[in-house]
Amino acid sequence: MNNGNRKLRIALTKGRLEKDTVGLLEKIGYDCTAVREKGRRLILPVGDSIEVVLAKAADVITYVEHGVCDMGVVGKDTIMEMSGKFFEVVDLGFGRCKFALAGKKGEDFYQGYNVKTIATKYPNVSRSFFEKKGMDVEIVKIEGSVELAPLLNLADAIVDIVETGTTLRENGLEVYEDVAPISARLIVNTVSLKIRQQEIEDLIKKIEDNLDE
Ligand code: PRP
Repeated sequence: MNNGNRKLRIALTKGRLEKDTVGLLEKIGYDCTAVREKGRRLILPVGDSIEVVLAKAADVITYVEHGVCDMGVVGKDTIMEMSGKFFEVVDLGFGRCKFALAGKKGEDFYQGYNVKTIATKYPNVSRSFFEKKGMDVEIVKIEGSVELAPLLNLADAIVDIVETGTTLRENGLEVYEDVAPISARLIVNTVSLKIRQQEIEDLIKKIEDNLDE
């Protein structure tokens, strides 16, 4: 449901992307004091014309798809895993990391003909990666610290986010192959873009003009 009369509402992914997103909004000139001093509040004013909703990445997509938020800031990792009906309009350049296939150091993942087991928090991303290779794999969904799966011999490899590589390194694992680059993206509800076109396009322009190189 879209409401053309309310403030422009932007869903922000809590956590890693939050600081950079707030930094970007401040650079454009919006007062983000309420977000910086949010306490336990979840809907916060940013300047006079915007309100920000703080949510988990997957929920950012849900709120934008349903039009209860006009725009959202979310990682490409979540977009690739969930897909959905919205416009992805700007690569914000921060939150850079990658999806990678990884496993125990020194092992040849592609050796042998047995069906490999892949542990991941991202089953759709993993399935599509191996489908493109024409490779049949078994996928096991893990909720946290996927790196444990090869260490416990539950999986031959993982498909997971690698940022600095520290988690892999400290657990005797290594990247076998890069799957896809990731960064934060600005997404827009399809109806909002029509009924609040000027307002949204102005904000997109300001954001694009203020992105770090
Ligand atoms: C992610 C990912 C890796 C880690 C990689 O987990 O699942 O475990 O970051 O980062 P690194 O390459 O810099 O070591 P995150 O910390 O987001 O926690 P999560 O398990 O709750 O997703």
